[in-house]
Amino acid sequence: MITEFGEERQRRLILDYFGGDARLRLLRRTPTFGSPVFVVDFDRGARHFRTLGSFGSSIQVTEQSSMDLLYPARLVFHYERLMSLAFAMCPQAITGLLLGVGGAAMWRFMRAYLPDCAPTLVDADEAIAAIARRWFYLTQPVIVEPAHQFVATTTERFDVVLVDLYNSSGPAESNELFWSRCLDVLNPSGCLANNWADFSVNPVVRPMADALEAAARARGFIPIYVTRRGFRDNLVQYVPTASGITAEAMTEVHARFVQERRPPDRGRGILENCIVTTRFPIE
Ligand SMILES: C[S@@+](CC[C@H](N)C(=O)[O-])C[C@H]1O[C@@H](n2cnc3c(N)ncnc32)[C@H](O)[C@@H]1O
Repeated sequence: MITEFGEERQRRLILDYFGGDARLRLLRRTPTFGSPVFVVDFDRGARHFRTLGSFGSSIQVTEQSSMDLLYPARLVFHYERLMSLAFAMCPQAITGLLLGVGGAAMWRFMRAYLPDCAPTLVDADEAIAAIARRWFYLTQPVIVEPAHQFVATTTERFDVVLVDLYNSSGPAESNELFWSRCLDVLNPSGCLANNWADFSVNPVVRPMADALEAAARARGFIPIYVTRRGFRDNLVQYVPTASGITAEAMTEVHARFVQERRPPDRGRGILENCIVTTRFPIE
């Protein structure tokens, strides 16, 4: 049900962005996200997609999560494929924590390609969880709680922690204490990966990435940064805690992931044309 004041304008912005023949499935306000969110179906050639979107601060359309309607378990966004490598950066991924559920893309991927890894899902917004269940095939319960609160109080431990926390105004605020707690909930030899969107233009990213780096280095871990050369859109910051998982080992990590998990297209294009470094990739 579309109930927003100004919804005609929002609807126009969505169709401008996704194309006039896109089908808007839902447009609604959510309690904590900070802007209306929407679900839209659209075609790109022979491919059909469903995207969970929102509006940024300057009513700019922002894609939060996307699903290939023919192959729902495939990861649509390149940064998600990069994040999935975290599962090969620890010896055995039995438990995974997903902070930020969105349209449940990573959950669908895990279910199909990592069926032996049990996911725990946390999202601050019950409405987003309900949208993921209704429109994005999510069948697992979500812990509805701010990620900061969850990592501060949980007694569980995880082999992989994937952090993808965004709302209408960009990345959720994070400081060294938060990152330290995220590292606390990792099992020995586990791996954390965080997504930084718009890392080259959003000034809030660098201090938060530095805070994660500081928390990691305080424990003797060296973060690895990976981004696509020339795109400057998303940056994935990993903190592997297993010995031997270094920036130089990423090609090997990728090869192991492809061999063990058989991701779509044999994982082609995940690391191709990427910068892999142990320093934030821009000054
Ligand atoms: C980009 S989406 C995540 C997409 C997801 N990785 C996927 O696989 O589809 C960002 C999510 O972070 C959630 N979020 C934002 N701030 C949060 C916070 N402080 N705690 C928990 N969830 C938060 C939003 O509700 C939203 O669902």
